[in-house]
Amino acid sequence: MTDRPGNPPQDARAPTTENWSPDSWLRLSSVAGSQYAYTDETALVRATARLAELPPLVTSWEIEKLKDQIAQAQQGRRFILQGGDCAETLTDCRPDSITNKLKILLQMSLVLIHGLRMPVTRIGRFAGQYAKPRSSPTEPGEFNGARVELPSYFGDLINRADFTPDARTPDPGLLVQGYQHAALTLNFIRSLLDGGFADLHHPEYWDLSFLQNADLSPKRKAQYEHMSRTLADGLAFMENLGEQKIEDSTRVDFYTSHEGLNLHYELAQTRRVPRRSGWYDLTTHLPWIGERTRRIDGPHVEFFRGIRNPVGVKIGPKIAGEELIRLIDTLNPHNEPGKLMLIARMGAGRVADALPPLLETVRREGRTVLWMSDPMHGNGIKTGAGIKTRSFDDILLELERTVDAHKAEGTHLGGVHFELTGEDVTECIGGAAGVGEDDLTRNYASPCDPRLNYQQSLELAFLLAGAMGRR
Ligand code: PEP
Ligand code: CO
Repeated sequence: MTDRPGNPPQDARAPTTENWSPDSWLRLSSVAGSQYAYTDETALVRATARLAELPPLVTSWEIEKLKDQIAQAQQGRRFILQGGDCAETLTDCRPDSITNKLKILLQMSLVLIHGLRMPVTRIGRFAGQYAKPRSSPTEPGEFNGARVELPSYFGDLINRADFTPDARTPDPGLLVQGYQHAALTLNFIRSLLDGGFADLHHPEYWDLSFLQNADLSPKRKAQYEHMSRTLADGLAFMENLGEQKIEDSTRVDFYTSHEGLNLHYELAQTRRVPRRSGWYDLTTHLPWIGERTRRIDGPHVEFFRGIRNPVGVKIGPKIAGEELIRLIDTLNPHNEPGKLMLIARMGAGRVADALPPLLETVRREGRTVLWMSDPMHGNGIKTGAGIKTRSFDDILLELERTVDAHKAEGTHLGGVHFELTGEDVTECIGGAAGVGEDDLTRNYASPCDPRLNYQQSLELAFLLAGAMGRR
């Protein structure tokens, strides 16, 4: 049984979300100043009607399971690791790139399980991370020898990156293509996990060559070596104990997430399901609202306040405590555990001032949230040559200061959110493998924000585990 959005059936058991329906955001779409606009209304109706009849990408059962795990993390009994590309692209839907992302998230999670001594839930920024918010709706450039202003590139779910009027016009057909590529990605992920991909004992899974870097201080080197040795011992011990492989004894789960920027896409797959009340957004387990679209009176908050999925919301250093409480109460009016994830992205320079008052206000007001740290989006810099990058040291510093702030406030840091890839890219500078400014042009593959590469990601997991253990 799936009912079409826009025509909510009356169900006395449904949680009462006042004046909400899956398409109630449509009346607000002009209030907040939309990021992009579709011009071909007929094509939009055709694409969303098709999406609404295609099978869901995830199930309500999985969504509820994730919600339970987020509730555990809120109590400090679990940790959440969320990560993946800034923007997935349709052409990047390839087996190696998907496998490498799973591999690095899996390895980071093991380092964290070991260091934090608690279970870790892995959530990929994948299988739908195709829509990107932009600071400006248009950008200038050159087309056919003339300077023109065209719509910005909003990700492969909305338009195309080439700087031509045709490519940059929002294309509703991409909604269906995005769905199809998300389904292909998810299908491959599910098969890999079912087929034993998570056998952690293959030595090729662990590339610790960054330990050989001459610049690495002897102290850090000894620390990493010790952690990876005890980790390997722990895995061997568990295997001997049960005479079985890790993937047999503890099923390795991955959840999906993406920024829910394109509400037409989310709406088309938002349904009721049998034997449950309320509406589920079945494009992903965990949609989140970006920093640029989290206006309380805007369409995104309106849409996400009504669905049953857990929801993330990014918060930057400018948000005030009182605004945050109103945002929390709008998105989670019943203070339901596991429902709301606040992803703080303050910047290393701001976090020590901006985060503690928010932690204090939310604690004092008794709101149940999961505090996450995104140490990427407040730390963007440009090199002298104009290349967008982030420094490993700033990312680490924001994490350390976040850990300190939670310690001082007596609250839990329940998870982290990274932009990363399993490939050997050179997009962020620093880390033991020694990516310098001059290396950035060697393998800069992101169409959007710079990501941590494999070694930088693994190293950060070691450092985070150390910082949380120590502090
Ligand atoms: C992102 O996560 O890619 C992003 C744009 O983040 P934010 O909304 O925090 O700027
Ligand atoms: Co980004």
